[in-house]
Parts: sequence; structure tokens; C-alpha cells
Amino acid sequence: QVFFRPISNAAPPSSTKRQTKISVIGVGNVGMAIAQTVLTQDLTDELVLVDVNADKLRGEMLDLQHAAAFLPRTKILASVDYDITAGSDLCIVTAGARQIPGESRLNLLQRNLSLFRAVIPPLVRYSPDTILLIVSNPVDILTYVAWKLSGFPSNRVIGSGTNLDSSRFRFLIADHLDVNAQDVQAYIVGEHGDSSVALWSSISVGGIPVLSFLKKQQIAYEKETLEQIHKTVIDSAYEVINLKGYTSWAIGYSVANLARSIIRDQRKIHPVSVLAKGIYGIDGDVFLSLPSQLGRGGTLGITNVHLNEEETKRLKDSAKTILEVQGQLGI
Ligand code: NAI
Ligand code: 2OP
Repeated sequence: QVFFRPISNAAPPSSTKRQTKISVIGVGNVGMAIAQTVLTQDLTDELVLVDVNADKLRGEMLDLQHAAAFLPRTKILASVDYDITAGSDLCIVTAGARQIPGESRLNLLQRNLSLFRAVIPPLVRYSPDTILLIVSNPVDILTYVAWKLSGFPSNRVIGSGTNLDSSRFRFLIADHLDVNAQDVQAYIVGEHGDSSVALWSSISVGGIPVLSFLKKQQIAYEKETLEQIHKTVIDSAYEVINLKGYTSWAIGYSVANLARSIIRDQRKIHPVSVLAKGIYGIDGDVFLSLPSQLGRGGTLGITNVHLNEEETKRLKDSAKTILEVQGQLGI
């Protein structure tokens, strides 16, 4: 009122635009990479940060707020108390222990399981209609844990899964063929990590199915070259962790990409961790990544992508690996 003269007969503000709210739990390397990508991409009206480390939390909040002059207008809040997350449309969970060099994701399970018992119930209490997007590792099993602890329908509990592995895969294929990674359609499915499955049979570049094209043109390709690209994807995180201690930028962009599809109801297809029971002959309550359509309701459907015999077998083995570890949890 001090700066502006009131406009006479002004219509009241429209009440039709709903404010959107995203909460990020855990303000470590991953949480902050996600937070800053969500902000720069203008994905929400309100961004809430939660962590147990009050000083780091306030420091990160202030540091982001100080960039307000260069960012889309977003209200940024932070607290160690979960009441601040009330009414969130999307809660992104990144809190938890991370791997030390050479350590597997599965090895983090016991530490992050007890942390999830502290994180998931208050999120659900304050935002009973939210969508939970799990990032903490081992992400597939912790997505199952979040589903169990939340009591939510499975379409509202999603793991970031192999969206990141698929992005690494697309980068490597694009590099190999000297094309733009955005023109490469390629999926890694199954467990995020060591037992992931590359779907070679469905890769296309600019709409051209790659393997059948090579076959038709009688261009030889080495199976070992393909296996090596997949192996490089699996080794990627280990290499980055060895070199810089953690991974952050790629997961930041990957999760912001998922947040956009959900919050903006984009109905795009992403390989994310979803309840896979009954699909491709998978038995048991297991979350693993399959190409899924995401929108305002969470997971809207799972794509019926063709898997050849070998891919189906590898996917079932990946499910088995996850189920074996999950079976020891007792929840
Ligand atoms: P970090 O150590 O930098 O941050 C973890 C944060 O969690 C810290 O700020 C810590 O204070 C907080 N925290 C601990 N206990 C908490 C609790 N009870 N409530 C709220 N906050 C709590 O770790 P970083 O690098 O951010 O990694 C976080 C997780 O993300 C790890 O489990 C890591 O393995 C996983 N990750 C998953 C990826 C994926 O593709 N799914 C990719 C990269 C990391
Ligand atoms: C990643 O793949 C460590 O899961 C993490 O970057």
C-alpha cells in the first residue's frame, strides 16, 4: 500500500489459481540440487525445506532466499518441524545416509529404514493427499517402505528409480552416435543400481529403432559394446562418488523433471519405481522401475513396453534381488 496507489473498482484477485507447494526433506547435496533446480525451473509457488540439522537448514534457506532477485517468485520456508509441510502437493524425500566410495546402495538400508520411520508418518499426517517422491537409497526398497508406512495407494508413492540411470544411458548412447541425448529414447528398468536392466530392443533415435535398423542395414554391432555401455551406466555413480564424494547435479535435474510432470500434469513417460506386482510375471510387492506415465494423480499407468525374453528374465532377476533384501525387513 505504501508503494502503490490503490486502483479504484479493481476486481478481486481470481481465486481459481491454486497455489502449489513442494516440500524437500533433507537439505544435503541431493536435496539442495533438487531445490535449486525446482526454483530455477519455476515449478512451485512455495518451496519448503526440512532437515534435522537446524543450522544447515537455516543457512541453506537464507542462501536460496538471497537469490530472489534472479529467480521466479517463490516463497521459500524451512523448519525442523513437519507442520511447515502441511498441504504439500509433492513431498520429495532425500534425507539419509549416502554411500562412501565403493559401498553399495543396498548397504544403506538399515540406517535409512529407521530414518524413514521418523520421516514418513509426519509427512502423511500433515499432507494426507500428497504424492511421495522417494530419492534416498536404496530407493526401490525405501519406496516400498514409504508405501507401507504411509498407507497411501501405490499411485501416490513413487521412487525416482532409473530415471537417472536412463539419463546416463541416453547420454552415453548419444555420445557414441554423436547425436543429441534428447533425441535418444532409451530405458533402463528394474533396480536403480547394480541389477538394472537395459532395454536394448526398444531404443530409438529420432524415431528410428536402433537395433532393427542396424540389422536391416546388415551393420554388425558387438553385443560386448552394448554390454559395456550398460556397465558404464552401472559404474557411473561409483565413479562420481570416488571422484567428488557424492552425486548431485544429475539427480537434481532428474527429480525436477519428475516434479514437473507430476505438478504440471504433463502425463509424460518416465522410468520410475512403481509397484510392479503382476507385471511381466513379477510376483510379490516389489517396487522397481518401469516406464510409467506421471501426472497430477501420481502414477497414471505403466507402459506396455515390449521386453524380449532375455530382458524379461533380467527384470525378474532384478525383482528377485530387491525382494530378497526386502524380505529381511519384517515390515
Ligand atoms: P547428505 O549427507 O549430503 O545429506 C543428507 C541429509 O539428510 C543431511 O542434511 C542430514 O542432516 C539429513 N538428515 C539426516 N537424518 C534426517 C532426518 N531424520 N530427517 C531429516 N533430514 C535428515 O547426502 P546426499 O548426498 O544428499 O544423499 C542423500 C540420499 O540420496 C542418500 O541416501 C543417497 O544415497 C541418495 N541418492 C539417491 C540418488 C538416486 O538416484 N535415487 C542419487 C543420489 C543420491
Ligand atoms: C546415483 O546413482 C548414488 O544412487 C546414486 O547417483
